[in-house]
Formats: sequence, structure tokens, C-alpha cells
Amino acid sequence: MFPLHRPRRLRSHPQLRRMVSETVLSTSDLIYPLFAVPGKAIANEVKSMPGVYQLSVDKIVEEAKEVYDLGIPAIILFGIPEDKDLEATSAWHDCGIVQKAATAVKQAVPDLIVIADTCLCEYTSHGHCGYLELGDLTGRVLNDPTLELLKKTAVSQAKAGADIIAPSGMMDGFVQAIRMGLDEAGYQDIPILSYAAKYASSYYGPFRDAAESTPQFGDRRTYQMDPGNAREAIKEIQLDAAEGADMLMVKPALAYMDVILRVKQATNLPVAAYNVSGEYSMIKAAALNGWIDEQQVVMETLTGLKRAGADLILTYHAKDAARWIAKLG
Ligand code: PBG
Ligand code: ZN
Repeated sequence: MFPLHRPRRLRSHPQLRRMVSETVLSTSDLIYPLFAVPGKAIANEVKSMPGVYQLSVDKIVEEAKEVYDLGIPAIILFGIPEDKDLEATSAWHDCGIVQKAATAVKQAVPDLIVIADTCLCEYTSHGHCGYLELGDLTGRVLNDPTLELLKKTAVSQAKAGADIIAPSGMMDGFVQAIRMGLDEAGYQDIPILSYAAKYASSYYGPFRDAAESTPQFGDRRTYQMDPGNAREAIKEIQLDAAEGADMLMVKPALAYMDVILRVKQATNLPVAAYNVSGEYSMIKAAALNGWIDEQQVVMETLTGLKRAGADLILTYHAKDAARWIAKLG
């Protein structure tokens, strides 16, 4: 009898397909990013990210309730401060915008996990992710002075109620510095989700509109990774794991699915993938033009990331995906 093997047998009925499905996307895998701005009753839509808003703290709280009601376990907070300076003061100030948002969300929705993105680029006058000397136009961020500022930022975020600290600046030793800072301040039980393998990517463009964090000169290539490197990602995740990271992130996601898989195979820690702003905007733009089916493409994309090895997915599609998952069952 030919053919002996007929893989199509198991595809013949929707229930059969469900039974043998290898990858099931769950709402519990999702993390929703939010952008906090000063003020009241503010919701500015980000031009390059339809459906994504800069929100004042009162609106962040409303959004947090909705996210929680949809069954999404966590949000990650970014901040757009009133003032920017060389020391990124608004990043580590106890009255900083992320600190305020974290406190307000934890008060209103205590069971929603609040992740604080820990970086300086939204808070420095030049838009780089670390400290650099006045007049330095090369964008060569000074590593070790930056660690001190990151440590202060993480501690003040934890003090404000953040449940998880997520350092994203790609400074050498940042996990260890933050771990020590948190431990010294009594926050030894606050986990660190490290943006361990973060590439210098043009897919961050829309995010920089949202976070108002475009570098004023130069680029981030002296600290973020070269897109051609995969072995280096393993080096980065091993260093961060050794420094005490609890979870590891690969970012961006789609052009780096091989990296997600390799990282998954190289670690026992949970792996997160950041489905970044440019990836979101491409799908959104095509969907708004009627060129693709948004729901199908988003679900296929997120399922693909999970299949590649992502335990967690940071995505601007999280709320829609949660609704679709609930509907599909
Ligand atoms: C910066 C940071 C970036 C993102 C999150 N934190 C990128 C960058 O500007 O280098 C990107 C997220 C996205 O594109 O959705 N620390
Ligand atoms: Zn940064």
C-alpha cells in the first residue's frame, strides 16, 4: 500500500488537530507594555503604533484593570518623564513616573504583576541608555558609572512596588549590580528579568516615538548586539545567568527566532521574547490596509514565538490576543 505514512490523517478534523497540537498559546504567556506620562486623563495615541497610547497614571490604572480582567498576568512599564538630564535623575527618583505608576497599579490591582523596565534612555537628555560625559558626541556610554545609576533605579522601582526588575540597557555587569543593589536594600525576593540578548535593531523605531527615547546622536551599537551574532547571545545569557538573572529575554523576536531556540536549549531559566514595536506596527499597518487578516497573523506569529522556545512573550498585541484566545477556547 502506498503511501504507507499519511500525516494528513491527523489533520482531518478540527478536534483531532487540537488533540495533536504541539504548541498552545496561553494568555498566561503574555506581558503587556504600557507607557506612562505625567498629567491626568491623558491618552495620546502613538502615531506609528495604532492602538498604543502614552497614558497618564490614572489611565494606566484603568488599563491595568482591563488587562487583569482579560487574564493577562503582567504589564511592563516604561516612562516618559517631565525632565531629562545627564544623570537620568527622573529614572531613579522616588517620585519618578514609573515609580508613581507602579505604586498606583499595585494599589488598584494588587494581583497584577508589575514589571519595571530598568534603563536610562527615556531619562537622559541625549537619549542613550547610560551615563556619558557632557560634550561626548560619540555616544560611548561609560559602563561602570551607568551601573550605579541602574542600581539606584532598580531599588527605587522595587520600593515603589514593582514585582520584577527588567534591565534593558545592555551594560556589562548590570544584572550583578542590580542584584547586589536589591539585596542590600532588602529586596532579595524581587526577580530580575534580564534583556540578556538585545540586538541593535531598527525594529525599535516606533517604540522610540512612544517612549520619546531616540538617541540625539550616534546609535546604540556600542552596547546593543550586532544582528549577525548568535553565539554571542549565548555568551550574554550565560553571563547574566551567572550574575543572578531569574529570567532571560531575547529581543527583537521575529528576525531572531533562531536565537530564541538556541537560548532555550542553552538555559534552564524561563525565556522571554520581546515582539517589539516595529513587528507590531508592520502587522497593524498591513491589517489596516486590509492586506492581511490581523487575528490570524497575530495568533500565528505569537504561536510561532512560543514554538521557537519563548515561555513568555512581551507584545503590544496582548489584549487582542487574550480576547481571541478566550473566544477560540
Ligand atoms: C531601551 C528599550 C528599547 C525597547 C525597550 N527598551 C529599544 C531601544 O530604544 O533601544 C524597544 C521596545 C520596542 O521596540 O518595542 N532600553
Ligand atoms: Zn535604554
